[in-house]
Amino acid sequence: MTTSPSRILIVDDTPLNLKMVSAALRPDGYEIDTAPNGNTALERAMLFQPDLIILDVMMPDINGYEVCRRLRRMPAFAHRPIMMLTANDTLEERVRGLEVGADDYMCKPFQPVELQARVRALLRRATPTPMQPLAAQGRMIALFSLRGGIGVSTLATNLAVGLAQIWGEPVALVDLALISGQSALMLNLPLRTTWGDLANLSIADIDGDLLDQVLMTHSSGVHVLAAAARAEQSELISGEKVRYILDLLRQHYAYVVLDLPHDFSETTLAGLDAADEVLLLLAPEIASVRAASIALDVFAELDYPATKVTLLLNTTVAQGGLARSDMEAALRRPITQALPYAAEPYLSAMNRGVPPVLELATKPLGTILERWSFQLSSEEHRAKRPADPTPAWLRLSHATQPRKVR
Ligand SMILES: Nc1ncnc2c1ncn2[C@@H]1O[C@H](COP(=O)(O)OP(=O)(O)OP(=O)(O)O)[C@@H](O)[C@H]1O
Ligand SMILES: [Mg+2]
Repeated sequence: MTTSPSRILIVDDTPLNLKMVSAALRPDGYEIDTAPNGNTALERAMLFQPDLIILDVMMPDINGYEVCRRLRRMPAFAHRPIMMLTANDTLEERVRGLEVGADDYMCKPFQPVELQARVRALLRRATPTPMQPLAAQGRMIALFSLRGGIGVSTLATNLAVGLAQIWGEPVALVDLALISGQSALMLNLPLRTTWGDLANLSIADIDGDLLDQVLMTHSSGVHVLAAAARAEQSELISGEKVRYILDLLRQHYAYVVLDLPHDFSETTLAGLDAADEVLLLLAPEIASVRAASIALDVFAELDYPATKVTLLLNTTVAQGGLARSDMEAALRRPITQALPYAAEPYLSAMNRGVPPVLELATKPLGTILERWSFQLSSEEHRAKRPADPTPAWLRLSHATQPRKVR
């Protein structure tokens, strides 16, 4: 089968920049068109129908952000990849880019190989691959705590990315904190499509292909169903709709990770019921132990099997926290896993939108989170060597190999 080359529209008011970007991309065989200002860019986009648009930020007529915002309002360009070329990589520029719906950023001056790689990645991600149902249902893992602010979203995001990296299969990350969830932010994904897009649809209109369009793809292989951008949209999501969507997702994804809010609302309960495993998060402080105790009582009333809920300790304080054994005694249950205190790495990861599990070589926390993700993988997966092991799998198997005794 032959496919026509992808079309790229490059927009910049400096002729030299237009030449340099075109020259960097031409070897890859793209069909290229250029525009010297924002207004021409909007016209050329309609006529040329590019598969990807590269936008300079500073232009004399309308700036790159405004061009991006206007393109996003046109149905034909609502989902097409847009890359911003910024003169300086400040947090402010990144946030602005996110707000207007750009997919990626490059700083000027750029390295041609980096530009080529990013363009290829953006085009690859944009090519729809029809979802095939899996032979077996995927594993659904929920992270939950009645006490807020102790790392549910942080750990759900890292788990989803860890699983995707280890198994090389798409993983769904579902933000069920419908009003104010942060999963997409933690992965630096713009809120292009969210639960809000599912709010007004009836269940009969929702199928695997539609979900495929609503979940946003992160470069790690995680597909995010993000919290709605507007609170009133979330109120239209029923428990029944959540049940139906989670069921569809587990037919298409090897893993579905749920980032749950701190309540027992109808939609939260739908997530808890559907999960194969609930990780009840615990911080070493009394309010968290009390919240966990209440949650465990509710789970008992709901008749969840004893093996469904496990206690996960997240050490959110540097010192002076409760002893693990005291918490286990109070809750009359073992703490199955414990993760370390790491305020700075988590904070810096959140601000940059790069979860620590992706930064293995530079941060010890990444290695811990990767091993933790492996422990939570399905028994089928853990039992044998994959046919085509990922770098993450090879790393893990190397690290756990028994050392030879001299
Ligand atoms: N092990 C840890 N050590 C230090 N800080 C942590 C740790 N885990 C999480 N944090 C920090 O705690 C804060 C809250 O984390 P997060 O948003 O993931 O929690 P949450 O339970 O989802 O909260 P929310 O109530 O906002 O939904 C973040 O600033 C995060 O970086
Ligand atoms: Mg949260």
